[in-house]
Amino acid sequence: MTGKKIDGLEVAKSVKERVRKSVEELKKQGLEPCLATILVGDNAASATYVRNKHKACQEVGIITKDHNPSKSISQNELNELIDSLNNDRNVHGILVQLPLPDQLDEFVTISRISPIKDVDGLTPHNMGLLSMRKAILKACTPSGIMEMFDYYDIELEGKTIVIINRSNLIGKPLYHMLLEKNATVITCHSKTKNIKEICKNADIVVSGVGDRTKFVLTPDMIKDGAVVIDVAISRIDGKLTGDADYEKIIEKVSYATPVPGGVGPMTVSMLLRNTVTAASLSKGFGN
Ligand code: GUN
Repeated sequence: MTGKKIDGLEVAKSVKERVRKSVEELKKQGLEPCLATILVGDNAASATYVRNKHKACQEVGIITKDHNPSKSISQNELNELIDSLNNDRNVHGILVQLPLPDQLDEFVTISRISPIKDVDGLTPHNMGLLSMRKAILKACTPSGIMEMFDYYDIELEGKTIVIINRSNLIGKPLYHMLLEKNATVITCHSKTKNIKEICKNADIVVSGVGDRTKFVLTPDMIKDGAVVIDVAISRIDGKLTGDADYEKIIEKVSYATPVPGGVGPMTVSMLLRNTVTAASLSKGFGN
């Protein structure tokens, strides 16, 4: 069997087009959606991600505000910056790029963001709502994966889905989104035994390890006709790659995502959608 490529660029483009129209509508109502980003320090990979987010915002008409405090900023100073954005009526979404330098606490920082401006869907409030099926702002990468399933009409109900990732950014929120679709969801991690047997039994495998020295998703781990979503990004000899060898995997599955060009572009487009949602929410909060 040779499977079909899940084209993240194509799906992201269709999302962006819808977002662009929503932005136009909001502007007609006098509301200019605005995303504020905070990039602490000068981590090169993070700077590239944030640059891409700004560029995508510009493409759909979302205003951006860029904050780039020095890597030695204190927790109190960062809290004050977040508070000022929470209180700024013209800012609808706040994104603090992760990871943060060691002196800063990720939980304290993310918790400081007002839940209605939390366009990453990572505050305890929004993560809790997601687990209770009530979330409006949901984490971007897992939302992007759900959008791909929807775009390609991939059935989730009753399916056995393995997620190899337990992070707050990916594995945990995705678990709840899939459970909500009546899938049977299994989360694997570095201490899981028999990962190969568990994957082999799955209808869908979502792999997000990101370290090819420790883990590679090989065709013998996948059942014929399964779906493979590769969320990982590693750099090998200067080349971007995921957990799986796409060229080998695609011969065995029904659908698979490449890296690059798979899940990556979806994260950004979901951020745009969340920013428009947050801007619309702000109308109901007298902001
Ligand atoms: N670092 C890597 N991915 C993400 C993301 O989706 N959001 C934030 N804030 N930081 C990240």
